[in-house]
Amino acid sequence: MRLTLHVWRQKNAREAGRLVHYDVPNANPEMSFLEMLDVLNEELILKGDDPIAFDHDCREGICGMCGMMINGLAHGGMRGTTVCQLHMRHFKDGDEIYLEPWRALAFPLIKDLAVDRNALDRIIAAGGYVSVPTGSGPDGNAIPVPKENAELAMDAAACIGCGACVAACPNAAAALFTAAKVSHLGLLPQGQPERYQRVTRMTAAASALGFGACTNIGECEAACPKQIRLEFIARMNRDFLHASWTSRE
Ligand code: SF4
Ligand code: FES
Repeated sequence: MRLTLHVWRQKNAREAGRLVHYDVPNANPEMSFLEMLDVLNEELILKGDDPIAFDHDCREGICGMCGMMINGLAHGGMRGTTVCQLHMRHFKDGDEIYLEPWRALAFPLIKDLAVDRNALDRIIAAGGYVSVPTGSGPDGNAIPVPKENAELAMDAAACIGCGACVAACPNAAAALFTAAKVSHLGLLPQGQPERYQRVTRMTAAASALGFGACTNIGECEAACPKQIRLEFIARMNRDFLHASWTSRE
């Protein structure tokens, strides 16, 4: 299949970027999107041109490293799919495809399609852990967890930290990411001692790092490759309100 790519090229955060046009005359429909970019990059290198920078690691949809806007949609807009799991068979011969990096104040551009998502790690560092002694491996049944809570916690823990929710949000809010991290610990017994301190610290960190405020638009849920649900934001907000009220008492 023949494609035309328009790729955002930008050497670094200080220099201006622009869309550069590339012809891809022979993309194989069975290739993944990143493999198609690999082939283009090999051709660029052979011609002595600078290859297109983009992030990736596992290429199995589990590490959260890949991510870019494809035709204006985070990860390409296919439900529950990271860009590394997106295949060229979902495009048509003759398609024009626009590739841009995540755009958010808290994600400074590194080069081309690669941005620095360290801010998400810093939100986790602010409270996404349990610091109570958990001891050595306890008996499996020693800490009973209601089935519903266990399943909800696992749903929240599916977040891979890709940042698509931020990129898709008109406010560049990290609410879905933060809510997933707050919830997966807050739903389990081991996460209870620091539950309210955690939500206060992580939401404050998100705000201080330059992420916007959530206004319930819902683009994050639509863009999330792990289908993290908006209800986790509601859960985080309830915990945040509880923490605020109890700190005033
Ligand atoms: S909530 Fe979804 S979109 Fe946001 S970082 Fe986690 S996996 Fe990515
Ligand atoms: S490269 Fe790991 S999720 Fe895409």
